[in-house]
Amino acid sequence: MRKAVVMARTGTPDIGVLISGRGSNLQALMDAIADGRLGARIRVVISNRADAAGLLRARAGGLDACVVPHAGYASRADYDGVLASELRARGVEWVCLAGFMRLLGPTFCDAYASRVLNIHPSLLPSFPGVAAQSQALQHGVKLSGATVHLVTAELDAGPIVAQAAVPVHDDDTEESLSARILEAEHAIYPTAVHRALHEEWQIVGRRVVFSGVASGRSVP
Ligand code: GRF
Repeated sequence: MRKAVVMARTGTPDIGVLISGRGSNLQALMDAIADGRLGARIRVVISNRADAAGLLRARAGGLDACVVPHAGYASRADYDGVLASELRARGVEWVCLAGFMRLLGPTFCDAYASRVLNIHPSLLPSFPGVAAQSQALQHGVKLSGATVHLVTAELDAGPIVAQAAVPVHDDDTEESLSARILEAEHAIYPTAVHRALHEEWQIVGRRVVFSGVASGRSVP
């Protein structure tokens, strides 16, 4: 992503959240909205899995939640196109991935260019892909953490919006490290989404550079 992009800021953005599982990061976003910390509306929660517990959280919070299964499509591009259409049909302007375990290809990334965010449980570019916490333990790093980044068609490689580090203790298990990282995820994701939606920023080379100018829009 070499081209600098200055984002235009409009109204209270409508976001869509894509999940595949338990949805604790979705919950963090829902809580931030309830507390007036996000300044956005969740228009829809979409899961590619019917058994995702996050669907229950969404419905309990009164959100539109639906399943768009990934099976049965001839290509990734076909599935990407259907997902983008479902989001567009609901007026979604920004997309937040929250444990969505499917690669999104150019069809989706182009449809929502520079408007898709993801939370990943490592300090990228270290340990992209699945089982990031286990990768960190196996490598023996002393610090790991969480990264919020813009989504591009390359897995976990888009420009970084925010990161938080946590220590890795000698007696950590995958579970204990995951829990510590998850706490950091819940702290930084809503803050990073708020910044991306409500501050001016541009992409310079690989860097997301915030201008320090707030939109001046009041958070509902
Ligand atoms: C989180 O660790 C997130 O970083 C990763 O998938 C996990 C999703 O957890 N992308 P949850 O469904 O948000 O609880």
